[in-house]
Amino acid sequence: MNLRGIKLTWLGHATFRAETPGGKTILIDPWVMGNPKCPEGEKKVKKVDVMLCTHGHFDHIGDAVEIAKQHNPKVVGIPELCGWLQTKGVRQTAEMNKGGTQAIEDIQVTMVHADHSCGITDGDQVIYGGEACGYVIEFTNGVKIYHAGDTNVFGDMQIIRELYAPSIVMLPIGDHYTMSPREAAYACKLLQPQTAIPMHFGTFPVLKGRPSDLQKLVANVEVREMVPGETIA
Ligand code: NI
Ligand code: MN
Repeated sequence: MNLRGIKLTWLGHATFRAETPGGKTILIDPWVMGNPKCPEGEKKVKKVDVMLCTHGHFDHIGDAVEIAKQHNPKVVGIPELCGWLQTKGVRQTAEMNKGGTQAIEDIQVTMVHADHSCGITDGDQVIYGGEACGYVIEFTNGVKIYHAGDTNVFGDMQIIRELYAPSIVMLPIGDHYTMSPREAAYACKLLQPQTAIPMHFGTFPVLKGRPSDLQKLVANVEVREMVPGETIA
C-alpha cells in the first residue's frame, strides 16, 4: 500500500484519522473518548479540520458533538444527521446525500450507499437519522480510499469500483451488526481493491470476525491488519 504522503491512523472500531498531503486532518466516525479500543494518548483530539460521519449510531458519532465544539471542523453527513448535530451546537455542517461529491478542504468526498440502519439515540428517544452511508475520499495525490461505514455487502459495491476504483477499502468484518469475513470477502470480490483494512471487530465480544479469517478467503487482496493507534504513512 502506497499512500503517497497521506498518514492514515486507526483509532479502533470504525474511527480513522487521515492527514492529507496538504496538512489537513480528517476524522472519520468520531468515537474516541468513549471508544474502548482508542489508545489513551489519542483520546484528546489535538486537531481536526473535517469530520465524516457514516451514521448516527453511538459507536460512530459518540464524540462528534464534543469534538466539534472544541475544534469547529466541517462536519459531513446525511442531512437528517447534520440537522440533529446542529441542534446540539455543531456549527459547520456540510450535508450531502448518496451519489453526491463535494470538495471539503483539500479532499473530494463522495457519499455512497451502506446497507444498515441509522437511528440516533437522544436521551430516551430514537430520532430518525436518515440513512447510513459510506464515503469514497479522493486526495490531491490521486489516492482513493473507501470507508464502508457499517454495512452488509451489497451488489452496488460493483458500481463503487467501476465509478471510483478505490485502491484501499476499510471494511467492517466483526459480524453481528455488520458483515462478517464471509460477506467482506464477497465485498472484496466486488470492489477489487489492492488493500482491505478490517475494522469494526473485537471492540465488543459479539464482534468476533478476525482479519485472518478474511485473509484466508481472499487471494488477490492484501488484508492489512492494523492495531489501534498505528499509523501507515
Ligand atoms: Ni451502526
Ligand atoms: Mn457500528
